[in-house]
Amino acid sequence: MRKLFLLLLLCLPATVWSATEINWDMKPFDPDLENKPSLQNGMRLYMNYCIGCHSLKFQRYERTVDFLGIPHELALEKLIFTDQKIGELITTAMDPEKAKAWFGAAPPDLTMVAKVRGPEWLYNYLGTFYQDDSRPMGANNKVFPNVGMPNVLADLQGVVTEGCVQVPKIAPNGGEMRDPLVPGKAITEEKCGELVHEAGSGLYTPEAFDAAIYDLSNFLYYVAEPTRLERHRLGIFVLLFLVILGCFTYLLNREYWKDIH
Ligand code: HEC
Repeated sequence: MRKLFLLLLLCLPATVWSATEINWDMKPFDPDLENKPSLQNGMRLYMNYCIGCHSLKFQRYERTVDFLGIPHELALEKLIFTDQKIGELITTAMDPEKAKAWFGAAPPDLTMVAKVRGPEWLYNYLGTFYQDDSRPMGANNKVFPNVGMPNVLADLQGVVTEGCVQVPKIAPNGGEMRDPLVPGKAITEEKCGELVHEAGSGLYTPEAFDAAIYDLSNFLYYVAEPTRLERHRLGIFVLLFLVILGCFTYLLNREYWKDIH
């Protein structure tokens, strides 16, 4: 009984945390480390929009650009805006003390963020900033309510506000409800707390913006574990080796026991 009670006590914080966590319909995210153009664009966006506040201090420029297939001279010219060398760690010039005073929280290092929060969280976080004049930075976020970070991609994203939209009404069987009098017409209902995009207000269309934050999340997914592809490839060899070793061990075992039975 005491053991059961202890177990319950251990599980409690996890359930409370997950229950209070996110009140947003998460969009799925499928990372692709083989997609080099996506990773390159992700790094370009990171170096232009994020490095001013967030370091990637457990990762070096050289290793990153080598994996991404970017020549060193090009990286030094187009991606590294400080006088850092190619072999150095990806640090930021932001002073954490000052940042804390400005934003209410210091911008954390993002090397491991895709592991800690999960790549899907990251992708949804970057896609759900919206204008909120009641916040000090004029921005809020759906998956990180009252976040201290300003909406740094607002130029690309355009004006997004919280509002009500018409969505198809869902029947108890899970399908969309249809008007019985007008064939093909869906019955809609108002859903509030949704994100509404002002058409034509951003440098990117909503689809292009979505592709950009996909690339950015894909890049941070790579950074969180740079050896992931290598690990997967190596894993196949290890399993093959075990299978072959298993065959020989089986034959040897048969040889040893042959005269005993
Ligand atoms: C002007 C400074 C600034 C810039 C530029 C900036 N951020 Fe942030 N970011 C912050 C601050 C401050 C926080 C902490 C917010 C909080 O805890 O309320 C934060 C938090 C985050 C978090 C949440 C981390 C966590 O686990 O709590 C992520 C992810 C993130 N930023 C990603 C990005 C990305 C990607 C970019 C580039 C597109 C970017 N940020 C650009 C200031 C910045």
